[in-house]
Amino acid sequence: MISFLTKLIQTGPGPLKYFNAMEAGIAVLLIVFVSTLGFLKASSDSTSLASIKEHLVEKMRLKWAKFRYKNKRDGVLVESEWLNDETRLRHTHVVGATGSGKTVLVEQLIAKDIKRGYGCLIIDAKGERDFYLRIRSLCKKVGREKDLFLLSAGSPSESSIWNPCNLGSASELQSKFFNSSIYDQFHYAKAVEGGLLRAFTTIDFEKAGASFDIKDIASVLKREFKGSSSENLEGLYLDLENLASSEWGKILGVNLSFDDFERSLQLFDVVQNGKILFVDLPTEAKAVQSSRIGRLLLQEIMLISGMRKADPSLNSGSPFCVYVDEFDAFATQSFATFLNKGRSSKFMITIAHQTLSQLDRIGEGFRGEVMGNCNVRFVFRQDEPDDAEKWANFIGTRSTVRQTYRSSGGKQTGESSNRLAEEFIIHPNEIKQLGIGECVYFSKSPRRMRKMKIPYEAQVRVDVNDTHGQVKIVMRAPSSKLTNQNSKNEVSEAMKGL
Ligand SMILES: Nc1ncnc2c1ncn2[C@@H]1O[C@H](COP(=O)(O)OP(=O)(O)O)[C@@H](O)[C@H]1O
Ligand SMILES: [Mg+2]
Repeated sequence: MISFLTKLIQTGPGPLKYFNAMEAGIAVLLIVFVSTLGFLKASSDSTSLASIKEHLVEKMRLKWAKFRYKNKRDGVLVESEWLNDETRLRHTHVVGATGSGKTVLVEQLIAKDIKRGYGCLIIDAKGERDFYLRIRSLCKKVGREKDLFLLSAGSPSESSIWNPCNLGSASELQSKFFNSSIYDQFHYAKAVEGGLLRAFTTIDFEKAGASFDIKDIASVLKREFKGSSSENLEGLYLDLENLASSEWGKILGVNLSFDDFERSLQLFDVVQNGKILFVDLPTEAKAVQSSRIGRLLLQEIMLISGMRKADPSLNSGSPFCVYVDEFDAFATQSFATFLNKGRSSKFMITIAHQTLSQLDRIGEGFRGEVMGNCNVRFVFRQDEPDDAEKWANFIGTRSTVRQTYRSSGGKQTGESSNRLAEEFIIHPNEIKQLGIGECVYFSKSPRRMRKMKIPYEAQVRVDVNDTHGQVKIVMRAPSSKLTNQNSKNEVSEAMKGL
């Protein structure tokens, strides 16, 4: 040490040369001594000692859980909780304010299910291409690239084609399309229900087994109900016609060319053969169309669920996972019934959204049915006091003994009495104050309830060759309003710079 310091002093920077080796040695020892004192002082503080201990215990618990479930494949590990398939087949409900950590948790569940070889339908309402790219990189990493399919109007060249009219009898198609919208007026709902049934019966007869698409339905509606003065059906016709002529038209199988057949997929095949379908439905940009397509997909899942129940040979193999983020945009009243019955057809559903009032908008009693029909819940931070209160009530109360002290003339008499009181197991304020990634986890079966912090597992890195964007940016010059030639020139100069 002394020889090292001597060398450092001789060869080191200017100020060091004024010290001799002995002095430098004493300085180093002094620094070590002062830092040790500082550490000991901090450690003697009971709260920091407790937090170090808590941190170590927490780490050990997570390590132990990882070790314990390392070789198990019939479930997934979230933090230190083992969620087996049986538990998740009764469905999972994830709620939390925006930015509280829902999607991070859902993405972890998706990754674990993909690694286990399960089939998945992922409905993503955010339209962030990065999410899809991460899923694609993961599929590549685990050798499931060929299992992955995309439905996206934002990336038409990469997208598969799914025709919602390909599966189902006339009455099944009627129910699928009827439930792809929400009706606030009873007479409108009834008119649409009847109109759709007649349209599908007509088209089924005319096409006699050949395939048709939403444009064909729109044409039949127009022809059959022309002059019937039914505004209700005109609304339905315009809805379908608009969808058929939008950028989604081709992806939903409208005017399919021979070359497009290769890109066609059947949801039935995805479910039965454990494939992965990622659906990009940006609700911000194209709310009405995205919601309708998302609901059509979920309706078809319900139809397949019915088929699997009716024919047990279709119902073997691994569960099929359905993930719906921003669920409120795609929910329909019929989905609540499906949550109740989906278990026996091996659909493992995970829904995520922000507030309970979003569910109230779907219909009367819908919130209660969703809450009652999900087995596993992750409740992240709730900003609305009403929601925090509802969840606290849902989790329940426990009886505790409270001691009350008597006082007389402002002074305690020393006498006390005990009384039984009910208190929240998790107080609404705790739900309002959860940090990012923190949640209350509870399941009905097996009975579990605890607060947890979802570990932030490193996300799959996107393959650098995969990042090329598919987004088409259309920018128009405001030339039609400009009469002045100079301004026109200025605009075209400005456009050149873009
Ligand atoms: N468990 C977690 N640990 C640490 N940070 C997290 C965790 N969950 C989420 N975050 C952070 O919060 C951000 C928003 O999370 P996200 O899941 O997208 O929120 P939400 O879907 O609820 O709107 C993430 O990008 C991440 O930076
Ligand atoms: Mg999210």
